[in-house]
Amino acid sequence: NVMKEVSGLHVLEERLREKLKLAEVIIVPGDSDRDQWVKTEMGKAAVNRLLPLLKSERTIAVTGGTTLAAVAEMMKPLPNRKRPLIVPARGGLGEHVENQANTICSTMAQKANGEYRLLHVPDQLSKESYQSLIEEPGVKDVLEQIRSAGIVIHGIGEATTMAERRNSSSIVFQEIEKQNAVAEAFGYYFDQDGTIVHKLKTVGLQLDDLTDDKTIFAVAGGSSKANAIAAYMKRGPRQILITDEGAANELL
Ligand code: F6P
Repeated sequence: NVMKEVSGLHVLEERLREKLKLAEVIIVPGDSDRDQWVKTEMGKAAVNRLLPLLKSERTIAVTGGTTLAAVAEMMKPLPNRKRPLIVPARGGLGEHVENQANTICSTMAQKANGEYRLLHVPDQLSKESYQSLIEEPGVKDVLEQIRSAGIVIHGIGEATTMAERRNSSSIVFQEIEKQNAVAEAFGYYFDQDGTIVHKLKTVGLQLDDLTDDKTIFAVAGGSSKANAIAAYMKRGPRQILITDEGAANELL
């Protein structure tokens, strides 16, 4: 990629990969905090990296958020009319409809000429209803497909920003503040060391399900997310990170 050679982004990618101890880092130009189009570029980069993997893998689990919405928008049909299966990584996490994993799933499937399954599990449920719901055949099947996904694509957010966006209770805010949470992903909140300090109750992928046999993409950028990205990445080294220059410069 000529643009990258010229702009020195490859050097930045390698430095960031070493610093965060990741499998791979892809950096797109710009800062998504400032310019909306940078999210689209991250989306394109994610899709370009993803497509070759779909030769041998069918199921992709995705989380919610505006960055993942950009990934879904950039999705393309696969060669040879292959139809990928897109599933939401986790149930409701308090996002607006357009940023929910379910919505992103259906958009992505549509763009890919693929199929999708949805998780219809409300955020607030009594323990009993929750238990009986996850035993429902329709839900159980989807949960199995989610766990079997060979590819996971997820966002990373800043802890307080996410708690606000989810209209979290004051108890959650107090907890996050007391424990110094700085990052959020998959409904889990993490402190600067990558330790889990709070977790939302919902079905689907749990952090322990992110095993070594899966290819895991984190797509997150913007200089304001640098701290959150660094904290989350303390958890595990094998990820592919797709980010932007804004976050990368701040991280280095
Ligand atoms: O709520 C879903 C989610 O993927 C969170 O886990 C993550 O923190 C957030 O969205 C990222 O959202 P955005 O891409 O809009 O910053």
